[in-house]
Amino acid sequence: MGKVLAVTSGKGGVGKSTFSIGMGFAFASMGKKVLLVDMDEGLRCLDLLLKIDKTAVFDLSDILNGGEIENAVYPTPLWENLFLIPAPLKAGMIDAFEFAKFADSAKESYDIVIFDFPAGIDFTLYASLPKESLFITVAVPDPISIRDAAAVSQQLYSMNLNSRLVINRFVYKQSRKYKVKNIDEIIDKSSLRLLGLVPESDEMRLFSLSHKLKKRGKAALAYKRIARRIDGENILLPKLKKI
Ligand SMILES: Nc1ncnc2c1ncn2[C@@H]1O[C@H](COP(=O)(O)OP(=O)(O)O)[C@@H](O)[C@H]1O
Ligand SMILES: [Mg+2]
Repeated sequence: MGKVLAVTSGKGGVGKSTFSIGMGFAFASMGKKVLLVDMDEGLRCLDLLLKIDKTAVFDLSDILNGGEIENAVYPTPLWENLFLIPAPLKAGMIDAFEFAKFADSAKESYDIVIFDFPAGIDFTLYASLPKESLFITVAVPDPISIRDAAAVSQQLYSMNLNSRLVINRFVYKQSRKYKVKNIDEIIDKSSLRLLGLVPESDEMRLFSLSHKLKKRGKAALAYKRIARRIDGENILLPKLKKI
């Protein structure tokens, strides 16, 4: 039975979709069979980022309306073992009851299932995911984003859901200049347990144009560290300068 990850955030544009792809890449390169599910109804993007926008005909709504799961699962040309279910083209198409059944069955066929949610809190859909799912709230290292991540985390805790924080677009020099060099301070503010840091990276900023991720690049290494932590390994945070 596979692991279920749900990627969330308070604010939009903090890098959830990019992070979801990074995790897809990391787990796929560890030999796991990975399913990404784009949950951003009406505003989908993973099909474009993963270069299946020209071939995607079916989407999550077709599955929830009784279609075979496999019909709406697209292999991605970027990495073997990484599959995508595109989000519905229109909003309001995800029925919580059908979604819960789908999420339960998806984890039977994949090692990792990653749900890339839109920003904000969707109590009904979060509660529809399997109880053991790991919620990953993404924030960027600024006080507003972290405060919003804290709000999301409080809601997740109140629902008894398992949640962690990822700081995306981390820049060591800025963190020193604005004295957030102490990561504990960020964790305290967010009341979330830190799962990892992803550096600011030109490669990820330009990913929608290049569709490329260097296997040994800084971003790839950060995604792989996080994937291994999720997999239960004890991977320490490197020196902040080295992230
Ligand atoms: N680690 C990173 N380094 C640089 N740019 C990033 C990084 N992660 C995301 N971005 C950029 O941030 C923008 C928003 O990312 P996206 O994944 O679409 O956010 P969200 O899904 O939270 O709305 C995109 O332009 C993306 O390229
Ligand atoms: Mg997104």
